[in-house]
Amino acid sequence: MTRYLITGGAGFIGSCLVRKLAKKSKHICVVDNLSYSSNLSNITAALKKKNCKFKKIDISDTKKIFKLIYDYKPDIIFNLAAESHVDRSIDENYPFIKSNILGTHSILESTRLYFNNLEKKKQKLFRFIHVSTDEVYGDLKNKKSSFKESRRFDPSSPYSASKASSDHLVNAWHKTYGIPVITTNCSNNFGLYQHPEKLIPHMIISALMGKKLPIYGNGLQIRDWVYVEDHVSALVKICQKGKIGETYNIGGNNQLKNINIVKKICQYLDEYFKKSKNESFFNLISYVKDRPAHDHHYAVNIDKIKKHIGWKPSKQFDKFLNKTIKWYLDNPSWWQKTLKKNYKLRRIGLKI
Ligand code: NAD
Ligand code: TYD
Repeated sequence: MTRYLITGGAGFIGSCLVRKLAKKSKHICVVDNLSYSSNLSNITAALKKKNCKFKKIDISDTKKIFKLIYDYKPDIIFNLAAESHVDRSIDENYPFIKSNILGTHSILESTRLYFNNLEKKKQKLFRFIHVSTDEVYGDLKNKKSSFKESRRFDPSSPYSASKASSDHLVNAWHKTYGIPVITTNCSNNFGLYQHPEKLIPHMIISALMGKKLPIYGNGLQIRDWVYVEDHVSALVKICQKGKIGETYNIGGNNQLKNINIVKKICQYLDEYFKKSKNESFFNLISYVKDRPAHDHHYAVNIDKIKKHIGWKPSKQFDKFLNKTIKWYLDNPSWWQKTLKKNYKLRRIGLKI
């Protein structure tokens, strides 16, 4: 049976992948350094299964990661471990260099040693799936176009620059050492278990706490939103059907302005709590200083994954946004625990 090693599996997207594969009783080893954005309770049920185990390891610790790979003997490595938030990368960039660049180098080198010692039959099956972002392409600028896989990287933030670097490393390890890699570049995800620092949970939780909803700049920035379960189903399909050495964009075909998403959240909460106009959550919207080097527009072209992998997004943004809001309403203990342990959330006004 295929053995999966999933790095970053206690985070938002990684845990969704773990839950999906665990449901099918797959053999899984989750690796995570349990940094601030992780939450092991995201995968409690999965870890109860006999074929699913967890190892607390930092991917930049080459000795430990090599030993783990060598002992566990994965057929597939999904590399999701990364520092993932743009604002945090602006405040303190070194963790992004360490996890995203040095960490990727470390796991690639460990993989190279492991792969070189595999028997030919096992080598044929082995895949290293590197999960990256559309932010490597930078600001779209021409609003009628979209990012194709062939687009030149032009990252704007320390986060996107560190992810772009990791993508280059992965590609070079394929070209130079023949490691069978596939890279994915996905647009903004949303869904259950997302850390409160990201736009959608940040707005829901701030509203529930009666705090201001800080919109950076004019709020007209555009992101292409994809539901996290769609992203994960794309990763599983790419692992089965993707061509070695290729990169695939993943996106929701669903471009929205930030302010319009925040308004949808306010609308939902007004109806849920039956608020009058005076008490409306819309009154909490407040425009704040813009993020430095804020990319105005991301939009990914997903023709390649549609044509070659047979995947497409579900395109039901409102339904999944409502499901997400309801989940945060129903699970205050999950996000309260996260807020309590994260001293840096004071910066975004969410410390409790
Ligand atoms: P997340 O911050 O919720 O989860 C990241 C996980 O990785 C955490 O559990 C963290 O503890 C772990 N981690 C971080 N550094 C590590 C290290 N050095 N060693 C071991 N574990 C480490 O992030 P996410 O949103 O789930 O993103 C997962 C991946 O998907 C990242 O690579 C990110 O760049 C990429 N991605 C995210 C989005 C998005 O919208 N969230 C979109 C496209 C791509
Ligand atoms: P975010 O969720 O941080 O993702 P990314 O920066 O990777 O796209 O932010 C999504 C968009 O929302 C981005 O344009 C920045 C904006 N934003 C706000 O306006 N206010 C906020 O409090 C946050 C967290 C984000």
